[in-house]
Amino acid sequence: MRLLSQTLCLCLALALSQAAPSHHTEKMAGDEAPKHDHKEHHGAVHERCEGIEFDAIAASEKGVPFFFKGDHLWKGFHGPAELSNGSFKELDDHHHLGHVDAAFRMHYEDDLKHHDHIFFFLDDHVFSYYNHTLEEGFPKKIQEVFPGIPDHLDAAVECPKGECDVDSVLFFKGDDVFHFEVASKKVEEREWAHLPNCTSAFRWLEHYYCFHGHKFTKFHPVTGLVTGKYPKDARDFFMRCSKFGEDSDHVEREQCSRVHLDAITSDDSGTIYAFRGHHYLHQEKATDAWKGFTIESSFKELHSEVDAVFSHKGHLYMIKDDQVFNYKEGEPHTLVDGYPKSVKEVLGIDGHVDAAFVCGDHHTVHVIQGHKMFDLDLSKTPAEVLQTVELPFKNVDAGMCGPSGLKILRGSHFYHYDSPMIMSASKAMPEAHKISLDLLGCDH
Ligand SMILES: *[C@@H]1O[C@H](CO)[C@@H](O)[C@H](O)[C@H]1NC(C)=O
Ligand SMILES: *[C@@H]1O[C@H](CO)[C@@H](O)[C@H](O)[C@H]1NC(C)=O
Ligand SMILES: *[C@@H]1O[C@H](CO)[C@@H](O)[C@H](O)[C@H]1NC(C)=O
Repeated sequence: MRLLSQTLCLCLALALSQAAPSHHTEKMAGDEAPKHDHKEHHGAVHERCEGIEFDAIAASEKGVPFFFKGDHLWKGFHGPAELSNGSFKELDDHHHLGHVDAAFRMHYEDDLKHHDHIFFFLDDHVFSYYNHTLEEGFPKKIQEVFPGIPDHLDAAVECPKGECDVDSVLFFKGDDVFHFEVASKKVEEREWAHLPNCTSAFRWLEHYYCFHGHKFTKFHPVTGLVTGKYPKDARDFFMRCSKFGEDSDHVEREQCSRVHLDAITSDDSGTIYAFRGHHYLHQEKATDAWKGFTIESSFKELHSEVDAVFSHKGHLYMIKDDQVFNYKEGEPHTLVDGYPKSVKEVLGIDGHVDAAFVCGDHHTVHVIQGHKMFDLDLSKTPAEVLQTVELPFKNVDAGMCGPSGLKILRGSHFYHYDSPMIMSASKAMPEAHKISLDLLGCDH
């Protein structure tokens, strides 16, 4: 994460002195790196959809990805940046550099003392946070906690047992990679010359990503092996942007993005529509092939960013804010006369709709708002509430129902239930499936 600005500094130094020998590049990446090289960034708010290089990426103890740049932090795959010191106060007290070098979340069930602690690395110090509180005795010298690991790191990522042989942490500095075993404190260096120098590293859904510039490369945490076409643009998969890189493949991006979906539905013929931001994916039942389009191109009046979509008798009901758009299916999709109408007028309810779905050809639409589900009779205008049930969870992004049962989507995962009734009666969450791999056909 420092290399870019260090290279800039070096260029500046070169321009000024005309005398710096080129081997200084290596030195600059080391311990003698200028201490205030990020000063020019201090207070600058970055727009991550412009394509930036993050300083560090780590999941919080609640599993929310945190992206760090300068003195700012993004929580999750979309939304604005906030000051890091709002969440991690002491990072600022001890160092006024306004950036972190590396971060990771310890996630080892065998080590309850450190389980779910977030570690930050700043120069030669390490900070350990739990529940957004600095652990007593920290910051400490990196050498004290992770002996054998160098200062001024570029990246760090956890690697729990099962994915690595034993609970480990991978550290990156320049083109050096260190495997640190947590229990034995054994350090091994890896020769992964094919891997770009990682400026941050991130473990997500049991996969490992080396971020470099605004791109990333997926690698195997034990062998370092890279399989598939990399690097890819981080904006396509780890951010919710309305514009993407020029060479962005809409279908692959929408299939493989880790960003939550806004809405999903399957129509009477089994064709699936999945909506995210300005785009949607469409899978024909007949061929199983996925295609990607902009929402604007097919649902002009709707433009983008829907809240919920359900299919009923050859129509797609698309809910955005407090309006319902009713499109007749077929090419092209046509908006039914008189629409959009208000949610109140069509469904008889108020407030933001998280998800909506119809199972089979029944007249009942199930609408999820927070931790409540309303069963509404669509044969009445406006629809009438048949029953209201409390769900065992909230934060639902989308839902889809069909012959194979009900899928509830939250974040990067979906959960399967045989029926809405079974869902409302269940206490525990069923097994989590990955939306990208198990639902949208992403192959990596
Ligand atoms: C966080 O940093 C900003 C700017 O660097 C400063 O104005 C603010 O007072 C800090 N907040 C806390 C809680 O330390
Ligand atoms: C986390 O911190 C909050 C307030 O800072 C506190 O109310 C809560 O009990 C803490 N949770 C744990 C698990 O320590
Ligand atoms: C990677 O890091 C090494 C120092 O460890 C440096 O010599 C090399 O130039 C870096 N490569 C790139 C592409 O920045």
